[in-house]
Amino acid sequence: MEKILIADFGSQYTQLIARRLREMNVYCEIYPFNKVPRPDADVRGVILSGSPASVRDAGAPQIDLTPFSGHLPILGICYGAQYLAQTNGGEVLPSPSREYGRAMLSIGDASDPLMQGLDAQTQVWMSHGDTIQTLPAGAHLLASTSDVKNAAYRFDKLPVWAIQFHPEVYHTLQGMQLLRNFIVPICGCRQDWTPDNFVEQTVAQLKETVGDDNVILGLSGGVDSSVAAILLKRAVGDRLHCIFVDSGLLRYNEYEEVLASYKDMGLNVIGVDASERFYADLKGVTDPEEKRKIIGRDFVETFNEAASKIENARWLAQGTIYPDVVESASVSGPAAKIKSHHNVGGLPEKMHLKVVEPLRLLFKDEVRRVGVSLGMPQSLIGRHPFPGPGLAIRIIGDITPEKVHILQQVDKIFIDNLRREGLYDKVWQAGAILLPIQSVGVMGDERTYERCVALRAVSSVDGMTADWVHLPYEFLAQTSNEIINKVKGVNRVVYDISSKPPATIEWE
Ligand code: XMP
Repeated sequence: MEKILIADFGSQYTQLIARRLREMNVYCEIYPFNKVPRPDADVRGVILSGSPASVRDAGAPQIDLTPFSGHLPILGICYGAQYLAQTNGGEVLPSPSREYGRAMLSIGDASDPLMQGLDAQTQVWMSHGDTIQTLPAGAHLLASTSDVKNAAYRFDKLPVWAIQFHPEVYHTLQGMQLLRNFIVPICGCRQDWTPDNFVEQTVAQLKETVGDDNVILGLSGGVDSSVAAILLKRAVGDRLHCIFVDSGLLRYNEYEEVLASYKDMGLNVIGVDASERFYADLKGVTDPEEKRKIIGRDFVETFNEAASKIENARWLAQGTIYPDVVESASVSGPAAKIKSHHNVGGLPEKMHLKVVEPLRLLFKDEVRRVGVSLGMPQSLIGRHPFPGPGLAIRIIGDITPEKVHILQQVDKIFIDNLRREGLYDKVWQAGAILLPIQSVGVMGDERTYERCVALRAVSSVDGMTADWVHLPYEFLAQTSNEIINKVKGVNRVVYDISSKPPATIEWE
């Protein structure tokens, strides 16, 4: 499978570079600058990312380009461009003023393959504190802006290009064209990395890896584990055994509905109702992290008990996706940070199973595209993310079955209304929170003293940052009315208007 390697020097935009290439159906992998593997026959080119560091710093990130230089096309972006200049005899100095934001690029050498199809003047996005004062010997200028003379250059005798601006961000209006110029004519990529191809290749690989063994997979009702299950089902058929645990903390009727839809998809699913166990262990616990720990432990134990009944199981499949595994380069040192996978932390070590993760190379929207290519129902593919600990972290304070029941009803009204009004797909994640306060109200002629719930709906791309959605007032009015009228025990509804940061999506 042909691919581009991206050396990450710690820029906030590195993942965007990968996204852009993948949008053009070119497969790529991100590596910390000091862990880039030697190229194999599949590698078609290398991109050096930006960085918050300065090439002039004593501890500036360094990369050994010997395995690539002269053999494969290289594109340096921002820090990458400065690094290529400095290490080849050019000069990099602090910019007289920090250059940040839009700039107009004037193309000087329109015949260069990297500049093909770009307008003579085109808007680009700059974000840098240093500037390339002098080009290295053997390099020539391709484009400039009014403030940055050496905004794009290339080496005369080597397939090495460098640009000071960021083609991967939206504000570089012809950034996609420039990246396409690099990956298609220059690197020679065929752009054939499509969801259909991914399915075909992954199923073949899974067949080979897993052989005749049995595989166990924990389904959560979410998109990732479901897509992973369907891929494995294609590869190993009935040797895939799925386990779906009801923690009693799922949405209203979710356990029954999701279990039925999994069965409709032909999956071999064992459903385990463990709500009593979770409720018993959570009794009286109010600390959010303590709740997460208990739920994690109960999940592992329940899962283990069900899994131990499956004979000849050698593999544990997980729905881990790319943002969970990609290592981000730390410019202050090589120690790479890896996010742990919330839902299944601790499972593999305890189970002595080998792990298989068919989605570990995909971003979330790619998982959805693969789901479509596998013919999965839209109702499953388009589901909002839902946290592993479920409603437990949306009930502030201790958990009781009665509180879960109240919150499930509120959540159902909110989500059903979003669907009915065509708003569900416009929102990234939505849910309700049961607050630990009661307030005075009046219903009929009676004074009430009941619970308050908060509604939350956010827009986001990856959950790292989020903004509250401006749901129509009429929608909120109608939903609030319906909740207070129908859900016994609730007499007040509020809407959360906080963004992340500084707030978070979940309240706990
Ligand atoms: P926060 O609240 O950190 O949430 O802004 C970001 C995203 O992560 C989800 N989330 C979790 N998912 N286990 C999970 O599996 C957890 O403990 C957990 N906490 C938050 C949250 O729903 C949102 O999508």
